[in-house]
Amino acid sequence: MRRPLIAGNWKMYKTSAEAADFVKNFLPLVAGVADRDIMIAPAFTALEAVAAALKGTSVGLGAQDVFWEAEGAFTGQVSPKMLAAAGCRYVIIGHSERRQFFAEIDDTVNRKIRAALKSGLIPVMCVGESEKQREAGQTFSILDKQVKDGLKSFVAAELGSLVIAYEPVWAIGTGKTATATQAEEAHAFIRSLINGLFGADLAGSVRILYGGSVKPENASELMAMADIDGALVGGASLNPDAFSKIVKFK
Ligand code: 13P
Repeated sequence: MRRPLIAGNWKMYKTSAEAADFVKNFLPLVAGVADRDIMIAPAFTALEAVAAALKGTSVGLGAQDVFWEAEGAFTGQVSPKMLAAAGCRYVIIGHSERRQFFAEIDDTVNRKIRAALKSGLIPVMCVGESEKQREAGQTFSILDKQVKDGLKSFVAAELGSLVIAYEPVWAIGTGKTATATQAEEAHAFIRSLINGLFGADLAGSVRILYGGSVKPENASELMAMADIDGALVGGASLNPDAFSKIVKFK
């Protein structure tokens, strides 16, 4: 059985004070939750404040990006070691907004995953097609390329902690959620790719999250699908009440 993971990607929202305030309000709302994992990924500037606020709880801290070098003259970058030292357990890698606006490509995703794993971080690798690609019937070929190139030259034993997030770009921040059937079809395809590349054990254990306009109203239906193991939530994770409701999907 795969343990569900509900993850909040806060993108470029919340100062460290606002982030700490969120945690104070959020923790009591999820106090009894023990059968699923929760992650919050604030901006870099709020990591330490959120780490302090989460101390002693089971809610995991994540970062939204990472660089692949351990240290050096790389102005503006943050290393895996720095994230681990700041209290991160997870790191989101290859989010479509980074691919779209910051020249992230499958090769850099691959390097970042390798570096994250080396520092003991759990990589959350994001994949997903754009609206144009879906309309052109390219959904599966895009996913195939992103998964194969993102995980190029790894072996199964290295990827035990890997989390994949399927986020169709057309469903992000648009209010247009993929239907549960559309999402399940993509998740099952990704799992079959992992099976082909790394074998049945990893395919059976790897968690594949759905992201794209997940709300309290649609979470349960999505999470009920066989290959959907959790959610990567943007907008609705900014509100403690809404995010706690998603965490507590039935
Ligand atoms: P929304 O939930 O705001 O659509 O964002 C999804 C997302 O990009 C999470 O990484």
